[in-house]
Amino acid sequence: MADNDSRAGSTYLSRAILDYLATTHAPHDAGLLQAFSAPEAHGIPAIQVGPSEGKLLGLLLRLAGARKVVEVGTLAGYSAIHLARALPPEGHLWSVEFSAEHAAVARRNLEAAGLAGRVTVVEGAALDVLPTLEQHGPFDAVFIDADKINYDGYGRWAIRNLRTGGLMLGDNAVYFGKLLGEEPAAAAMRRFHEEAARQMDTVCIPTPDGLLVGIKR
Ligand SMILES: C[S@@+](CC[C@H](N)C(=O)[O-])C[C@H]1O[C@@H](n2cnc3c(N)ncnc32)[C@H](O)[C@@H]1O
Repeated sequence: MADNDSRAGSTYLSRAILDYLATTHAPHDAGLLQAFSAPEAHGIPAIQVGPSEGKLLGLLLRLAGARKVVEVGTLAGYSAIHLARALPPEGHLWSVEFSAEHAAVARRNLEAAGLAGRVTVVEGAALDVLPTLEQHGPFDAVFIDADKINYDGYGRWAIRNLRTGGLMLGDNAVYFGKLLGEEPAAAAMRRFHEEAARQMDTVCIPTPDGLLVGIKR
């Protein structure tokens, strides 16, 4: 999630309107509230997706009939709860997290939300961990929300390991407004966009942070 100022590119989406939309369409129950509040409570960065974006992720998974899903970047498990709740009872989410501290917080939040059996939080650097998950594939969806410098690598892995018709979702796709800049991570993010656009049916939804959505051909 970005702060209010970085959402200011839109003429229309004030903080008050974003809050109204989230409250109306994506209210928090106890499980979501605990996970959403956890970063602040545990002194870790509050960089989870917003409530509306989390709800959107779940709705997209339901539309795709997703059963097996990979998330790159767990943090405190907030988006993982949205993703896991969209799965049928036999479905599973593997969520990859580099920080042992974040992974521990996430596991507690997933347990509290009654989702411990449906989500495996796998610790490690995603580029190392993802190949170990391939035995469970092909996957119905991959949600990418971790270090931006590696988005192109995560995108390539997702495209290789999705089923035909599977969904790739990439948050922060406008790279905090710096997508067209000189930083290496901006260049990686542009490769992520361009390779996805060549190989999938894609759109970038102009959510406040940008959400790339691709369907594997
Ligand atoms: C934006 S947060 C994820 C937010 C989460 N998806 C949500 O919305 O609730 C990014 C997370 O990716 C993790 N991360 C950063 N680099 C990583 C890497 N190379 N491999 C796996 N996780 C990484 C960070 O520790 C952080 O917890």
